[in-house]
Amino acid sequence: MLLELRQVTKRFVDRGGDFTAVRDVTLSLGEDEIFALIGESGSGKSTLAEMVVGLQQPTEGSIHWQGEAPGQAASRPHVQIVFQNPDRSMNPYWKVRDIVAEPLILRKTGRAEAWKRAGDLLEQVRLPRELLDRRPDECSGGQKQRIAIARALSMTPKLLIADEITSALDPGTEREMLALLQTLKRKHRMAVLYITHRLETIAGFADRIAVMKDGAVVETGHTASVLSQPQSSYTRALLAACSYA
Ligand SMILES: Nc1ncnc2c1ncn2[C@@H]1O[C@H](COP(=O)(O)OP(=O)(O)OP(=O)(O)O)[C@@H](O)[C@H]1O
Ligand SMILES: [Mg+2]
Repeated sequence: MLLELRQVTKRFVDRGGDFTAVRDVTLSLGEDEIFALIGESGSGKSTLAEMVVGLQQPTEGSIHWQGEAPGQAASRPHVQIVFQNPDRSMNPYWKVRDIVAEPLILRKTGRAEAWKRAGDLLEQVRLPRELLDRRPDECSGGQKQRIAIARALSMTPKLLIADEITSALDPGTEREMLALLQTLKRKHRMAVLYITHRLETIAGFADRIAVMKDGAVVETGHTASVLSQPQSSYTRALLAACSYA
């Protein structure tokens, strides 16, 4: 297994008291699988993802990476995250070339080489090289998400986390994005943790899924079997709500 979460809980404490955002979650991800994390808004998906990347620490439980001692505070270029809102992670004044090349330059790749790689990476996410000279506001939402994926790929991740990256896209663009992720997964031999509140999008895409509700995983399994024979009443309600047939 690439990654294992063992009884991971995250509590936030503020003036209003305690709030448990993630509750006793145990999950594992294989080396080149697409794993979908499904749940409605506020169910704890992003908090879970942030713990996997190391942006947040679990209050209880532990996260184990293959070949890494538990709790080792390593920087993890091998896990990359792409967010719902690409503007959150892009400097609006930079050209796409510099946005994609930035992680490479930070890791001491020469500028000329990093720019060349930026062009290659755009091609991998099926964007024209002409985009290199544009700024983010001259790109569409779907293009910006591809740019964010290209930048993440520059670190040759073993795990790519996509946190609601298609939520702002139209259905056609969303389908293209899922197909692209499948291609990239095979090509780069990486795992994908795909986070969405839209259960209806993941048939034929994700290998396995986990359904979250109020911070806890209520169901997990192979996508086809969860969709055809959901065990939890909550999953059944989600399926009914999106009239999945
Ligand atoms: N830093 C924080 N302090 C306090 N509460 C937090 C913090 N971060 C998240 N929460 C709470 O934890 C819960 C889960 O939030 P999270 O962002 O993980 O949900 P989500 O499933 O990603 O939702 P969405 O689909 O809307 O992105 C929410 O109720 C949120 O308000
Ligand atoms: Mg979220």
